[in-house]
Amino acid sequence: MDRPIGEVLIRYARSNDVAACIRLSKCSWPGWWANNTQQGSRHIRECIRGRRCLVAVSNREVIAYLVWGTLWNKIHLQDVFVQAPLRRHGVARALVEHVIAIAKRQGYREIMSDCDTINKPSIALHRRMGFGRCGRITKNWDNDDSYVFSKKI
Ligand SMILES: CC(C)(COP(=O)(O)OP(=O)(O)OC[C@H]1O[C@@H](n2cnc3c(N)ncnc32)[C@H](O)[C@@H]1OP(=O)(O)O)[C@@H](O)C(=O)NCCC(=O)NCCS
Repeated sequence: MDRPIGEVLIRYARSNDVAACIRLSKCSWPGWWANNTQQGSRHIRECIRGRRCLVAVSNREVIAYLVWGTLWNKIHLQDVFVQAPLRRHGVARALVEHVIAIAKRQGYREIMSDCDTINKPSIALHRRMGFGRCGRITKNWDNDDSYVFSKKI
């Protein structure tokens, strides 16, 4: 069921957000986490330490997160997850807009991303944010095919 959403603050994740980000990441990739708990936890901690993790906070609760890395000379969006009852309120869009602003300030000119070919909401989000499809990976995460997206910034 949809939950009302108050004011949403987007900020870098801090060390005390590790548990919340891991929880969201586990919801996003339950199959992967089942076999990669240590690697997953390390990755989240590294992203937070390296300022490559944003959280959306509403009513003092972390309701969404986004992590990224770099790929060659580009930013690579690795995951964005919004708590199910709080979707379709522009939270993912706000997170992606923040990353774009950060990437521009850091001198990047392109953002890459990917998502499962069956993930309609994520495909729609990428389109809405101006990403173009530039490739396809067969048997990617969890053995599903992925689309690859790119956006010049
Ligand atoms: C994909 C996801 C991150 C979108 O988060 P969200 O906060 O609901 O997205 P937003 O409200 O910011 O939507 C931005 C735009 O994306 C599109 N969109 C998002 N969800 C959509 C849906 N379910 N159906 C159609 N379009 C959708 C719309 O164009 C929307 O703009 P609009 O509301 O002005 O029409 C969210 O559904 C989610 O967490 N899914 C599970 C995790 C996941 O699949 N992550 C992506 C992995 S790559």
